[in-house]
Amino acid sequence: MNLLLTLLFESLHRKENRMNKQQLKELLSQLTLDEKIGMIHGCTLFKSKAVTRLGIPSLVTSDGPMGVRNEFQEHAWFPLGNTDDFTLYLPCNSALAATFNKELAYEAGTVLGDEARGRGKDMILAPGINIHRDPRCGRNFEYMSEDPYLISEICVPFIKGIQTNDVSACVKHFAFNNQETRRMDVDTYVDERAIWEIYFPGFYAAIKKAGCKSIMGAYNQFRGQYCCHNEYLIQEVLRNEWGFDGVVVSDWGGVHDTLEAAKNGLDLEMSVTDDYDDYYMANPLKKAIEDHLVDASLIDEKVLHILNVMNELNMLDGDRKSGTFNSISNMQKIQSVSDESIILLKNDNGALPLNPKKGEKILVIGDNANRVHANGGGSGEIKALYEISPLLGIKMLLGGNYEVAYEPGYYTRVVGNVWGREVSENWQATSLDQSLDLAIKQNKVLPDDVIDHLNKEYLERALSACDDADHVIYIGGLNHDYDVEAQDKDSLKLPYGQDRIIEKLLEKRRDMIIVMIGGSPIDMSSWEPSVNGILFHYYNGLLSGTSLANVLFGKVNPSGKLPTTFPRSLDDVPSKIYGEYPGDDSVTYHEGILVGYRHYDYNNIQPLYPFGHGLSYTEFDYSNLKIVDNTFANNDILCSVHLDVTNIGASFGKEVVQLYVGAKDSTVLRPRQELKGFEKIALTPGEKQSITFELNKMDFSYYDTETKSYQVDACTYQILIGSSSRSIHLEATFDNTKSYTIERSSY
Ligand code: BGC
Repeated sequence: MNLLLTLLFESLHRKENRMNKQQLKELLSQLTLDEKIGMIHGCTLFKSKAVTRLGIPSLVTSDGPMGVRNEFQEHAWFPLGNTDDFTLYLPCNSALAATFNKELAYEAGTVLGDEARGRGKDMILAPGINIHRDPRCGRNFEYMSEDPYLISEICVPFIKGIQTNDVSACVKHFAFNNQETRRMDVDTYVDERAIWEIYFPGFYAAIKKAGCKSIMGAYNQFRGQYCCHNEYLIQEVLRNEWGFDGVVVSDWGGVHDTLEAAKNGLDLEMSVTDDYDDYYMANPLKKAIEDHLVDASLIDEKVLHILNVMNELNMLDGDRKSGTFNSISNMQKIQSVSDESIILLKNDNGALPLNPKKGEKILVIGDNANRVHANGGGSGEIKALYEISPLLGIKMLLGGNYEVAYEPGYYTRVVGNVWGREVSENWQATSLDQSLDLAIKQNKVLPDDVIDHLNKEYLERALSACDDADHVIYIGGLNHDYDVEAQDKDSLKLPYGQDRIIEKLLEKRRDMIIVMIGGSPIDMSSWEPSVNGILFHYYNGLLSGTSLANVLFGKVNPSGKLPTTFPRSLDDVPSKIYGEYPGDDSVTYHEGILVGYRHYDYNNIQPLYPFGHGLSYTEFDYSNLKIVDNTFANNDILCSVHLDVTNIGASFGKEVVQLYVGAKDSTVLRPRQELKGFEKIALTPGEKQSITFELNKMDFSYYDTETKSYQVDACTYQILIGSSSRSIHLEATFDNTKSYTIERSSY
């Protein structure tokens, strides 16, 4: 209690020290035009200018979603190379979403915020929440899901957690940044329903529900105008409708026009080059003001947004949290996330967990067993304090009484990782013209015939090592040569000929366990039916290998769920079927609202693994579904849904109870079902827990393009309860007798 009182006192006291609106305006009035201009564009690659005479510091930003990036030289995109910027590597955003655990999302946010503050940052450029529109997008791993509800439920606590540390989150990239091919220019066209039902809700939740203090514009265009100064996106929607008064930051090099940037709500222009005075919001803006093309009051608005956020972060009064980084408690929190984000895709005949006897030989095959991933992927890269690889994690868990042997199985030289690149290469700048691909090709990779020879040899060695192994685990998948910024994949197939290698190994060892690591769905169709045990996880933070070993050997019962559908093949993907991806100079999202599971359900396409899928070593029983109509109460909650879940297996486990809503007999196209609730529960064997979901009007709504509002029809709704979108255990209907209209920015 005493601690609580102290915290309360501290937080009240801290607030008292902040400036009020009037004081902020007075501060603004003391600034010269040059000082104001200095505050609204970069003066180094990651910060804006301070006004020291008035006690206004620089605003210091840093990437990114998986931890605080290493330090760069101030004016060139080259790492400083000192030893003081090793940091904790967090599971990527898709991994976080795969936990389906809102409390953990908050904890992960507190870690990222603490680390950012500890490293002296004011704004952390995270989270990334663009929709997984197509599994080929190179940056999907930096984003959360194909489903806007899951994104909202995970990003809100994550952002809140970050911001408890006097650091601003910066949610990105607003909006429609769903591909990397021609990311700097591609012009996107998305219909109104898809905008308001699929692409906006995550951003709306970040701004309105989490109070995110900053948002980053996307590189691409939307309806013919660049997103960083898009009148519709920033002025009409973000500022006017959502009332956002935080800081709008450009993506680095995403500004293309001074007048538009001035007028359409951008506050801070950042870029990748050191010609700061020539930035659109630097000298050219000053000139535009002097020429009376831009009203000086627009600059005041921008500066006020920045001052406002600085004030909220306690940057102006000096009474500010100092943060810590690399703390043991932060490592422990990260491990809770990585333990819960691993997904058990298949477990026929109880293939997992493995239970080796003392002295047995465990053979581990595959490049990802022996690879760390933190240092790749583009701006999400981390100079990790450490990263436990799967091989290390397995050895650390098993100790000295077992033999762990390793065979790579195939040859790979990963060049997408920072430490594998030439030091002189300005990756950030070259990535802007899609040249990473070229950089990879130009890198001195071995000639094809040598690689073929090595591959043959590696496979033969792996096959013969299988002979006397008691257990065989294959750990392969993708890496950051494939899941990487500025580049999309052209297929969902495994690289390095892995399909054939796995097939060959399976001929010998039908009992081989397969672990796939990657940042996006993988087409496993050629070998998946022949395997009993398959695990998948995303790039999973510094204790990735520890968590994987925990799951493989049963120390942790897996509880991750797929935040995105794994299709059987690329040919089933909606953006491929309806076109267009990656399209041409412009891309129309012809699939509309039928993104991810909405498409697979609607068109009766069987995915390889459905959205929300993930097995456990124990079993759960779902019972006693009851729907209680609440419409008489005349409030936002239309009904509550009650049910019981019992652990009927033999081990402790966590389950994600998922609730989907489907409208029956609707007059407009509706997805068969949409996720509208989930709860992660922990149960010991035999334990039962009652769960209640409250469904509000928005949970039944669709976006009506005529009235430009969300609409709830009076009709019958199906309430589906399951352990995945395709494993529905309980079902009931809810007859809603009234229709409702919900203003689109008031829910
Ligand atoms: C990326 C952003 C990143 C920024 C700064 C850009 O290339 O798109 O997500 O935050 O660089 O590194």
